[in-house]
Amino acid sequence: MPHKITLIPGDGIGYEVSHAATRCIEATGVSIQWDSVLAGQDALEKTGELLPQSTLDSIKKNKVALKGPLTTPIGTGFRSVNVALRQALDLFACLRPAKSYSGVRSRFKDIDLVIVRENSEDLYAGIEFQEGKPETKALITQIQKDTHKSIRYDSGISIKPISKFASERIVRFAFQYALENKRKKVTCVHKANIMKFTDGLFLEVARQVASEFTGKIIFQEAIVDNMAMQLVQKPHNYDVLVLPNLYGDIISDLCAGLIGGLGIAPGANIGKQMAVFEAVHGSAPKYKGKNKANPTAMILSGVLMLRYINEFKAADNLEEAVKQVIAEGKSVTYDLKPDPQDLSAVGTAQMADAIIEKIRR
Ligand code: NAI
Repeated sequence: MPHKITLIPGDGIGYEVSHAATRCIEATGVSIQWDSVLAGQDALEKTGELLPQSTLDSIKKNKVALKGPLTTPIGTGFRSVNVALRQALDLFACLRPAKSYSGVRSRFKDIDLVIVRENSEDLYAGIEFQEGKPETKALITQIQKDTHKSIRYDSGISIKPISKFASERIVRFAFQYALENKRKKVTCVHKANIMKFTDGLFLEVARQVASEFTGKIIFQEAIVDNMAMQLVQKPHNYDVLVLPNLYGDIISDLCAGLIGGLGIAPGANIGKQMAVFEAVHGSAPKYKGKNKANPTAMILSGVLMLRYINEFKAADNLEEAVKQVIAEGKSVTYDLKPDPQDLSAVGTAQMADAIIEKIRR
């Protein structure tokens, strides 16, 4: 029986990197029936909707999706179609491994970090009050009355909700992940010294969950600003990091930088029932249709997907093929060459061809 998987090719470079990824995944011999559906700018142009219900229904039915990056056009009523998709499907855990591959130029070798980012709340909840609106002024008046703190009336306001429920499920996810993947340590990253009732709650819940894993997984705490410095100085001291939404977004890009850039950083958005696999990078519109973008992040997202559907051998073979192509440094895209202007850099499709050749050998 083939695996039925939803495919969202994506916008900008999305189609090219998704096509490269599906070809590589199929080359492993795993039988997959793709259900190709639309979201983002492409969907808006073809169907009049950014996130059609039929796309959500396909993912709900198949439980697994591979997704290219999506562009959210301004003025469409969505802050981000990606955030909307994660919220609509309750994909509460964002998993972003940051792993060194030999042959990639970066400051450090042998980095093997896993970022677990809460995906459903925090400043990404989309609860915002625009400067100058009557409801914003009314809210400011109410806050001043309740807290005796002054807020300028020409302020915009974004709300940061952090719940016990969502904090517990993400921290538990991080510890379970650590246990199942033989990792040693989970570090909870926060700013609880300033935001006592939001980050403070996240930290308090993390301590409670951690106590259930005493003797199995080491628990550490780190303030986010210090964490940023520690990561650029001593990234090898860390293992699995669990963070609220905003810090998770920022720190995962920092970690992508540590391993050589967005071109090789994969990701997954995981819920209780289903998961959507996607690269950390966006749709890089300037490279659209140029056969230039690095397909590795998308292909490695495919590796994570293969593990999720229990196709471990295929996942290992595909990751090994990617490793070899990068280590050889010949059939790689411009961003993996010592000089980005290097004329020997190959295109997206040709890098995928080289990976497929390694799988078949
Ligand atoms: P971006 O990640 O698309 O591009 C930033 C820069 O990173 C690019 O100009 C390029 O130099 C480099 N880059 C990214 N991916 C690459 C690849 N595969 N190979 C080689 N170089 C690569 O971020 P940006 O410019 O902030 O966003 C562009 C659009 O993508 C926006 O509409 C944004 O909303 C969307 N976006 C979508 C995401 C998603 O679908 N998950 C995530 C981030 C942004």
